[in-house]
Amino acid sequence: MQNKFIFGNKEYKIKRYPPTENKSLKAWNAADEYILRYFVDLDDKPDSIAVNNDRFGFLTTYLNEFSPKTIINFASQKKAILKNFEANNLSKENLSFINPLKYISEKTELALLKIPKSMDLFRLLLKQIAESLNENGIVICGFMTRHFTKQMLTVAEKFFEDVEQSLAWKKSRLLILKKPKKSVEQKIIKEITFKDQTFKQYFGVFSSKHIDYASQFLIRNLNVDQNQQRVLDLASGNGVLAKFVQLKNPNCEIHLLEDDWLALESSKMNFENDKNVHFHFADSLDKFEGGFFDLIVCNPPFHFEFENNIEVAIGLFHQAKRCLNKDGSFHVVANRHLNYKTHLIKLFDEVNLVKRNKRFEIYDCKSPKSKKD
Ligand SMILES: C[S@@+](CC[C@H](N)C(=O)[O-])C[C@H]1O[C@@H](n2cnc3c(N)ncnc32)[C@H](O)[C@@H]1O
Repeated sequence: MQNKFIFGNKEYKIKRYPPTENKSLKAWNAADEYILRYFVDLDDKPDSIAVNNDRFGFLTTYLNEFSPKTIINFASQKKAILKNFEANNLSKENLSFINPLKYISEKTELALLKIPKSMDLFRLLLKQIAESLNENGIVICGFMTRHFTKQMLTVAEKFFEDVEQSLAWKKSRLLILKKPKKSVEQKIIKEITFKDQTFKQYFGVFSSKHIDYASQFLIRNLNVDQNQQRVLDLASGNGVLAKFVQLKNPNCEIHLLEDDWLALESSKMNFENDKNVHFHFADSLDKFEGGFFDLIVCNPPFHFEFENNIEVAIGLFHQAKRCLNKDGSFHVVANRHLNYKTHLIKLFDEVNLVKRNKRFEIYDCKSPKSKKD
């Protein structure tokens, strides 16, 4: 995989985290390069820069000397950026991370944004940017031409008076936004009802129209033993799986672990003031000791923006194996075509099919193999 990128007199190596075996997956694309070119061509470099949706830190790394504020929505994104700074011997003092719901600063002069796949997330991010941008500020949004949808323009025009589209370069384009409209009315939270329970979630969080069908299938077939006291919802999204476990065993201690900050914050709204529920903004189980959980439930991630990838799911299976109590259960639901059983049987002595329908299957995995991964 080509990790090096030379621009002007700068040469940095940018790697993905988590790493991938798939050589076609890169840590940036032409849309990131186009945003950078735009920046480099500016005669007057702005003092205050915000970088949004910079998944592996390509822009944050190249702009390090300008100390941009980087909006972090993923625990794995933060790790990627820190690793890339380390690998390129850059000072971490130039880093400043903020979350997507925090106002960046009233004086942001330039915001750079790789447009996400989810138009709802684009809306949420642009709302925050428009409200924190200086009135003469500019927003540069990059995207690959093949990913263009008219909705990009509709969303941009909602928050900015001036919306201009650039010429194409290496199959990518820019939207250049000026004159922010302040205080535009825009909801950023949605509600979904399933089985008499209402779930709130921020725009852009997984499965925004309805509870995911795989999760619905798992919930309909969920058995919770009252002895299973310590439970983990691994890759918890808005917390729907944890909620139904809790309804079946109200006394259990629940942990939710999620890589997406907006998703984890959504789940906090769905378990308000519950002392027996613990939230972890993380992409791994590193902080848990071996054998910690009696039950782990999981609808593993498969889609990442425009990519599909089972490597993250398999990584989570290895970690679930380590953190599962020797008498515990790991319940996984997935699309049948992903064929997760072949991976699970390498990690657990018992992998039992709980239920299967045309699209999904649920496995109950027990007896983690003692061999170290
Ligand atoms: C298929 S969704 C399931 C969400 C939720 N459990 C549900 O049923 O609606 C998978 C979730 O995994 C999260 N995710 C992706 N990579 C992760 C990782 N390394 N650790 C924890 N969560 C991750 C995604 O942000 C997404 O919310």
